[in-house]
Amino acid sequence: MREFSSLTKYVLLNRLPYRLMILGTSMMAAFLGILSPYFQKGFIDFLIYDHSYLPSFLRFNSPLPYLFLAVFFLVLSQLLNQLTNYIGVKEALFMQKKIGEKIYDKMLSLKLDTMTKRPLGEIVSLYATDVSGATVYLDQTLPSGSSTFFPLLITPFVLVNFFDTPISFTLVVVFGITALNTGLAFRQSKFFYRFKTLAAERLGFVNEWVQNIRTLRILGWVEIIEQKIIDKREVETRNRIKMVTNGQMMNSISSSFTFIVNIVTLGLLVLYYKRELSPGEIFALLWILGVFLTRPFRQMPWFFTFAFDAATSIARIETFLSAKNKFDLREAELIPIASKNILEVKNLKLSIQDQEILNVDTLNIVKGQHAMIVGEVGSGKSMLLLSLLGETNCEWDRYVINRSLLSNNMNDDTNDFRNVFSYVPQEGLIVSTTLRDNIFLEYDSPKDRDDKVTEAILHAQFKKDMSVLENGLETEFGERGVNLSGGQKQRINIARAAFDDRDIVVLDDSFSALDSETEHLIFSQLVNGVWKNKTVIMTTHRLNLLIAADVIHFMKNGSIKISGSYSDLLNKDADFRLFCNQLAEATSPDFIEKEKGDVT
Ligand SMILES: Nc1ncnc2c1ncn2[C@@H]1O[C@H](COP(=O)(O)OP(=O)(O)OP(=O)(O)O)[C@@H](O)[C@H]1O
Ligand SMILES: [Mg+2]
Repeated sequence: MREFSSLTKYVLLNRLPYRLMILGTSMMAAFLGILSPYFQKGFIDFLIYDHSYLPSFLRFNSPLPYLFLAVFFLVLSQLLNQLTNYIGVKEALFMQKKIGEKIYDKMLSLKLDTMTKRPLGEIVSLYATDVSGATVYLDQTLPSGSSTFFPLLITPFVLVNFFDTPISFTLVVVFGITALNTGLAFRQSKFFYRFKTLAAERLGFVNEWVQNIRTLRILGWVEIIEQKIIDKREVETRNRIKMVTNGQMMNSISSSFTFIVNIVTLGLLVLYYKRELSPGEIFALLWILGVFLTRPFRQMPWFFTFAFDAATSIARIETFLSAKNKFDLREAELIPIASKNILEVKNLKLSIQDQEILNVDTLNIVKGQHAMIVGEVGSGKSMLLLSLLGETNCEWDRYVINRSLLSNNMNDDTNDFRNVFSYVPQEGLIVSTTLRDNIFLEYDSPKDRDDKVTEAILHAQFKKDMSVLENGLETEFGERGVNLSGGQKQRINIARAAFDDRDIVVLDDSFSALDSETEHLIFSQLVNGVWKNKTVIMTTHRLNLLIAADVIHFMKNGSIKISGSYSDLLNKDADFRLFCNQLAEATSPDFIEKEKGDVT
């Protein structure tokens, strides 16, 4: 037998007393429920037959106490059933929070290159369907399972006592029904699983489509994609029809059980055992088989379906939780060390799927220096910056940051170390909230630092754009800043770095969408103004910016080939000269004229 997975154990055995309470209350509900027909029998027999078979302490001289006790036990049992469901739902919600946190923590701990093969849609569907799927054990399987199986287990023994029906007969019936239901439910769970997988696939696909809808329309992809979605929908619909049909079949089979079992049992008692039944006994038998067992019969196939469903959800979550970074992440240590460099790296290496991405011998950055990392597209500039920020599975022999030596492995708790950096990502980051919140990076940020926010906006040259924003700092941006231009997004990101005021500013190609006038203003007022004595590490493809750097690190195929001042590098390195020539040509009027000539 397959060993219970650790997440299953976690779901079921966490807060054990409450889980046992679910079992306890549903068992009590079953016991009290089956006491009701005993008094129903007494009530009927008192009225129209003979109730002298009842023990003397239960022999009343009015029918009403019997009726009262029958209703009393019935209501009590229903209340306990409700209580069982209530605890189940509460426990399920609690576990959903816990599992959600586990997925979230895992996502944070996974490095960029560990996540490469995980589509975001997969993680969204884990949250959307599997977290609630996994806890079905608690809000469905456990309460409905125990309120299904306890009555089924008790009933054969009660029937023996009430009617002398042979235990073997009732047990065979119960086992037969269980086997049939398991088969049906197994079939149903397959449709269910496919339903969830297909929906998750479609969600991921539609998500990508919606995010890029405008560009896709311009590129003429809309119909092709629509067709793909329609195809996916068709597969889903076929599966759904099978699922609903099978579900209906399960329902109708289980609801006709009560009728069949009633007839067979009554027939057996009267014809086979030649047993004389009192009216009270017939009433009680019909009630036990036709009412008391209705719920278990109906619920049983769904109990199995949900149990299988929970197992698949748990398996999917476990697959995600078992994703591992290349190196074990230990608590990162920051050991104080004397160094004139604010950042110092020796032998930094990064490979992704056996492909070497980075192999950097030495990178030293002196405090207050303006360092530029340049190189052809794909040479590894962004990956180097992300590695320095602890987002990849890179290794190094030595990493000193702000006079602290950092141990090789970084985990997601290394925020102390990350707080040294302001970071402007290549693609920019805009969150759907107000301009003020975007600069603060906080929701409902306070207004008392508005002068600082405004100053940062001024330095990032976003002030002139403010005149078209209806509500100034209160202006809300759409998701990922859809209502902003590329250049506006870049400047808001730069303003955030200016507001942040950390020790090292990291700019990944942050001026690429700006015109030269705006770029010049940012350089003179911010980079060479406010940040004059601040350490700045930036990547760029702009030749005019290189000239302003204190030091240039020229990258080629993931390595820093040479470092030095612009004139040093021009003198010493032919590759760098070639690289600069290409940058110069790309922006020179001659080059543009030549390109025009080539086209015409
Ligand atoms: N998430 C990722 N997973 C796997 N490989 C990646 C990932 N991101 C980048 N790479 C690879 O790493 C290499 C370096 O990419 P990087 O983004 O650092 O280049 P870059 O120098 O910043 O280029 P650009 O000038 O275009 O910004 C490339 O070969 C790229 O294919
Ligand atoms: Mg890049």
